[in-house]
Amino acid sequence: MKLGCCYYPEHWPDDIWADDARRMADMGLRLVRIGEFAWSRIEPVPGHYDWGWLDRAIETLAAAGLKVILGTPTATPPKWLVDRMPDMVAIDEQGRPRGFGSRRHYCFSHAGYRAEAVRIVTAMAQRYGQHPAITMWQTDNEYGCHDTVLSFSAAAAVAFRDWLAARYDTVDALNQAWGNVFWSMEYRSFAEVDPPHLTVTEANPAHWLDYRRFASVQVASFNREQVAIIRQHSPGRDITHNFMGFFTEFDHHDVGRDIDVATWDSYPLGFLEQFWFSPEEKAAYLRQGHPDIAAFHHDLYRGCSNGRWGVMEQQPGPVNWARFNPAPLPGMVLLWTLEACAHGAELTSYFRWRQAPFAQEQMHAGLLRPDSSEAEAAPEVRAAAEVLAAIGPQVTAQAPVALVFSYEAAWVIGIQPQGQSFRYLELAFQWYSALRAKGLDVDIVSPDADLAGYRMVFVPTLPIMPEGFAAKLAALDCPVLVGPRTGSKTDSFCIPEGLAPGALRDVIPLTVTRVESLRDGVAEPADGWAVTRWREDVASELAPEWADAAERGVVYYSDGVRYCAVWPDAGLLGKVVERMAGEAGVTLANLPEGIRVRRTQAHVFTFNYAAEPVFVPHLGLTLGPASWHLDPL
Ligand code: GAL
Repeated sequence: MKLGCCYYPEHWPDDIWADDARRMADMGLRLVRIGEFAWSRIEPVPGHYDWGWLDRAIETLAAAGLKVILGTPTATPPKWLVDRMPDMVAIDEQGRPRGFGSRRHYCFSHAGYRAEAVRIVTAMAQRYGQHPAITMWQTDNEYGCHDTVLSFSAAAAVAFRDWLAARYDTVDALNQAWGNVFWSMEYRSFAEVDPPHLTVTEANPAHWLDYRRFASVQVASFNREQVAIIRQHSPGRDITHNFMGFFTEFDHHDVGRDIDVATWDSYPLGFLEQFWFSPEEKAAYLRQGHPDIAAFHHDLYRGCSNGRWGVMEQQPGPVNWARFNPAPLPGMVLLWTLEACAHGAELTSYFRWRQAPFAQEQMHAGLLRPDSSEAEAAPEVRAAAEVLAAIGPQVTAQAPVALVFSYEAAWVIGIQPQGQSFRYLELAFQWYSALRAKGLDVDIVSPDADLAGYRMVFVPTLPIMPEGFAAKLAALDCPVLVGPRTGSKTDSFCIPEGLAPGALRDVIPLTVTRVESLRDGVAEPADGWAVTRWREDVASELAPEWADAAERGVVYYSDGVRYCAVWPDAGLLGKVVERMAGEAGVTLANLPEGIRVRRTQAHVFTFNYAAEPVFVPHLGLTLGPASWHLDPL
């Protein structure tokens, strides 16, 4: 795994670039990402490119032995471009234009902006495509950041109608599929269909789902356009995009198919603060992040791009964008870096080299302070480089466990949660966490992944099962656990004929006759676990394998496949995983709180995410807070 950093030469006088480059190399960095927000400097005047500074920046970095990851600048269209095409901006759900003055203010569907993006990417790719220092390209920056996947612009409405016409062929087919007879919502032509915003009460969920599918396709096609240009002018270089954490607004598997290396931006402390974690978890992991946050995304993105992945932005200190922004415990930057290596990353790049003294991110730490002195993370980066050099390349094998993750499932649940605490990402994360707490390595895979070779398969939920998915599960000869709401919707967001779980009934004979959601704080007890959030009434000849204290069935088993009819808490999941592992002959560990393990083909890494020393039975020793241990496998 190579180390790198995100660098903005345009932010600094050019007489310090050479010293910066030398210091990067001295710190053990070999990669440097530049360019992704530099459009106003690359093309200060419409049609007039100023390559001089970027040429010199690349030469300066290359002269220090660094390889460059060059970003296309399409996340930050300059003011002159917006003024020329005011309707290129995205429109939010309330119908308001997203103004100039930050970033990501473009609409993916605006044909004029798409042409401008093609033009600037072509110009860059022609200029630098063959440059020996360029090792990788990054398309745009964090598609969707700041809530920018969905746009409700006129351009989006036009593109949506075209997309619908291609999907349904006739408007009658659309009316039929969506159930538009309900509330007299029928259309007489595709031209009558608008985006699903600004309706009096909720729009038809089928309308929303298609809008989300359409918006996801727009992101993927925007990306694909850039990829094609780069491939043409820069053969042999890898292409990446930097995805985000806990983000499901577009189908990352889809975008991942077009790039070579899926990278993501890892901010464990910011994510702990911003997401659903309990006050206890936020307190316990304040300066470390929850032990599964980084790992979950490592395993998710490894499954997005044929196994090649990395961390493009690694938090090096306090960030600026969470509600509260604590500093990592001493040792955490090193731990996060080695953990990425343990999960098979090929790069970890820190955001950013030097903290900016101006503009929006002046409170965001870097490896250097604004005065160029080394910040707290710098010695940890140096230490990481030493460890990586000492252990050599690490390769990961297929994990014993697959967890099936679906972006469409996230949209379906988000559109129709039915209980406000039924959150798809949280469900998937909790299942992942339950597996990791038992010492298992996990591959997070898409529903169309080949599941052969796994020893256990987990499907937290898949409301719309792709054609053939149930048969694929039936063909497996390993234990499978399928979660609530699986098979509960058709492809056009209706209840399937014969009720849920639809086609899954061929695999496990049961019918879901009613569902209910439970308000926060309700916990219906059982033996060491409880039902919270969600439960289903199941009609079946099968006797439940697990039931709650009131003898209501919660888990059903048939021929290797289990259906879980509730939102399972950690206690229930733990019991089910133990039984499945017993059947599969997989050895489990009961890791102490905060401890996680990850294997490469040559090593076992153990990480202590706890803020205090923890005795680790499998090592027979105590690991200090924010520390790690490495053994040969
Ligand atoms: C990322 C983004 C970077 C920077 C960083 C700050 O979301 O890609 O440009 O803003 O966050 O943490």
